[in-house]
Amino acid sequence: MSTYKIAPSILAADYANFAGELRRIEDSGADYVHIDIMDGQFVPNISFGADVVASLRKHSKLVFDCHLMVVDPERYVDQFAQAGADIMTIHTEATDHIHGALQKIKAAGMKAGVVINPGTPVSALEPVLNLVDQVLIMTVNPGFGGQAFIPECLDKIADVARLRAEKGLSFDIEVDGGIDDTTIKLAKLAGANVFVAGSYLFKEDLSAGVQHLKDALDA
Ligand code: DX5
Ligand code: ZN
Repeated sequence: MSTYKIAPSILAADYANFAGELRRIEDSGADYVHIDIMDGQFVPNISFGADVVASLRKHSKLVFDCHLMVVDPERYVDQFAQAGADIMTIHTEATDHIHGALQKIKAAGMKAGVVINPGTPVSALEPVLNLVDQVLIMTVNPGFGGQAFIPECLDKIADVARLRAEKGLSFDIEVDGGIDDTTIKLAKLAGANVFVAGSYLFKEDLSAGVQHLKDALDA
């Protein structure tokens, strides 16, 4: 169980009460805080930027798992490092220079993650697998919380897990989008070990939600 990590997505939190929401996440026994950065260009929605991450950092010691849905994310590496991001995950579709951008993230002292949309094949990841600490497989089209899990993405999780074994690598495999106490089991079976959940968790009792997800992983 310890290799499995739950990452509540604060995209679904009450933005007027981030400090309180971070406390709820810490008290729930979650492992990461998933922070969705959206620029209104790579995805239609706008969320928050590095300044908000720096403010959040003062209220939490949890791992900050920053998912950048931003065009040319290499422009923001230094800002996110200074803000206190632990993991910076960037889309292959968002830059012409995914390899260099991941190198830049590592050089700035953060863990590097790479992510693909539901319509992007695993082959897009292959050239950078040896560089990353985490691969994120989107199980919805990015931009909004509360969408339905796309089951066709499960095969890609399994393909990435197979490539990891073949290459003798050890990165984490994260899933994001439509995760609940049913879909988490499918993602785990396919080979994922880090699970982002937004709308499923941000209800009245976040701790109970995290426990339900952990129970589903144990079952
Ligand atoms: C979507 C974001 C997700 C989102 C997930 O673009 O990357 O992290 O918060 O929300 P749910 O769990 O509601 O699908
Ligand atoms: Zn996300």
